[in-house]
Amino acid sequence: MKKSRFKNRVCWITGASSGIGKTLAIALAKEGAKLILSARNSSKLEEVKKTIGANFPIQILPLDLNDHKEVLYKKVDLAYEFYGEIDIIFHVGGISQRSNFENISTSTFEQIVAVNFWGAVYLTRALLPILRKSDDPIIVSINSVQGKFGVPDRTAYSASKHALMGFFDSLRAELFTDNIQITNILPGYVKTDLAKNALQGDGSTQGHLDEGKGGITVDKAVKDILSAVSKGKSEVVIGRPREQAAVYIKRFFPRFFEKLIRKK
Ligand SMILES: NC(=O)c1ccc[n+]([C@@H]2O[C@H](COP(=O)([O-])OP(=O)(O)OC[C@H]3O[C@@H](n4cnc5c(N)ncnc54)[C@H](OP(=O)(O)O)[C@@H]3O)[C@@H](O)[C@H]2O)c1
Repeated sequence: MKKSRFKNRVCWITGASSGIGKTLAIALAKEGAKLILSARNSSKLEEVKKTIGANFPIQILPLDLNDHKEVLYKKVDLAYEFYGEIDIIFHVGGISQRSNFENISTSTFEQIVAVNFWGAVYLTRALLPILRKSDDPIIVSINSVQGKFGVPDRTAYSASKHALMGFFDSLRAELFTDNIQITNILPGYVKTDLAKNALQGDGSTQGHLDEGKGGITVDKAVKDILSAVSKGKSEVVIGRPREQAAVYIKRFFPRFFEKLIRKK
């Protein structure tokens, strides 16, 4: 049997308290990884740890991706102290948006960009010297198909995901000779609470899922994420055929795509 690329590797997951991050944690534990789980909600992180089981190496490190100084100066040091190494960072933590541009407050817009983009940038900056010590370092960015195209009511979200795409593509090119893999994952709709937790214009959460959106299961998403990372891919779109197609339609038929995504 082929050896898992995650066995005995120290994997740090942000956004591990729910959805994709939580399911990734469960899957990586099964693969024999040593885990560090982060998000703001520490009791939910403890629940994830309990679900996985007492015999697995799991450390909990609560953090707020909006608190950049804390992430940069303290949390990375604390994460390193757990196992004396970090091999893989999964940047999963993020928030979505449900508001048009004219109705979103500047502070809410900034919060979405701060968590999704700056959180990952600061964390990566602080972590790079530690990742360089690993013999197979990997950075995984859970981006979105909205890192390739914008849709209505997602100005801040889409901007943050486009920025992340540019940041990690540029960093990959810089680190080409340093043997650091960077994998951008672009999911379409995945059945999680992302829409429920999405911020409305005034900063309150939407509180319910979007109607009639569907999407792939979180288990399928995680299976595809781990497969892409194992294979050393730079960029992978995961989701239903229509979302995979959308990325190519936008690229090759941009005028037609504009019509498809307009607000009716
Ligand atoms: N579900 C989809 O359809 C979909 C599609 C494309 C991309 N994605 C991306 O996938 C990632 C995970 O989303 P999900 O679908 O799993 O949604 P989710 O269930 O809402 O999970 C979001 C995670 O991010 C964490 N988080 C939010 N704000 C944070 C902050 N300020 N500091 C630290 N952690 C924070 C949340 O934990 P706490 O609340 O405990 O902090 C939670 O663990 C996001 O980056 C999202 O953009 C999702």
